[in-house]
Amino acid sequence: MGKVYVFDHPLIQHKTAMIRKVDTSVKDFRDLVKEISMLMAYEVTRNLPLEDVDIETPVCKTKVKMLKGEDLAIVPILRAGLGMVDGMLALIPNAKVGHVGLYRDPESHQPVEYYCKLPSDIENRQVIVVDPMLATGGSASAAIDFIKARGGKNIHFMCLIAAPEGIEVLQKSHPDVDIFIASKDSHLNEHAYIVPGLGDAGDRLYGTK
Ligand code: PRP
Ligand code: URA
Repeated sequence: MGKVYVFDHPLIQHKTAMIRKVDTSVKDFRDLVKEISMLMAYEVTRNLPLEDVDIETPVCKTKVKMLKGEDLAIVPILRAGLGMVDGMLALIPNAKVGHVGLYRDPESHQPVEYYCKLPSDIENRQVIVVDPMLATGGSASAAIDFIKARGGKNIHFMCLIAAPEGIEVLQKSHPDVDIFIASKDSHLNEHAYIVPGLGDAGDRLYGTK
């Protein structure tokens, strides 16, 4: 079973509280999502392998630890996942970026695919799938299905707010995937929205409502 990590860092908790507020502007929402994603990227990459490298400082030759050159791919689920990409790239600028386009059918709440473009060597990369919301878990599970069907193997899922229902669905459908969360919320309402949540993440990022 994949592990679930809920980040309790005060900065992450504070900024996540700010994006929940109904009167947070589109600009502030977007800036905060970027900042939270950057802070989370720091934690998600905690176990990346290091290797010993010989360097020379102005004082002497020495051995230091550097990243082992693990190749990363960030895969946002469109559209709301896009808001998390720049924050992550600020810390891991050499990561490649794939895209999976999915939307939830408003009636059935089932994910509908409309786009998928991944790095051609996805099978060799540590993949981090990003989406601010894990509600029913349908979108995350479907996105990871597509990535696996195209060869992706080593996959993490990172979101800002998750419902317990979505975590359970994702753990069952993809038990090999670790899940990284800024906040685990109470439950889903009758429209499959997360409670207390933050509303529709895509609309709040792009001002479409
Ligand atoms: C939202 C969100 C997730 C999905 C989560 O996207 O960004 O992708 O819903 O819900 P689920 O866990 O029940 O599948 P939405 O479908 O609203 O599309 P958008 O990003 O284009 O707004
Ligand atoms: N998608 C969102 O954007 N918000 C929710 O609460 C659930 C799904």
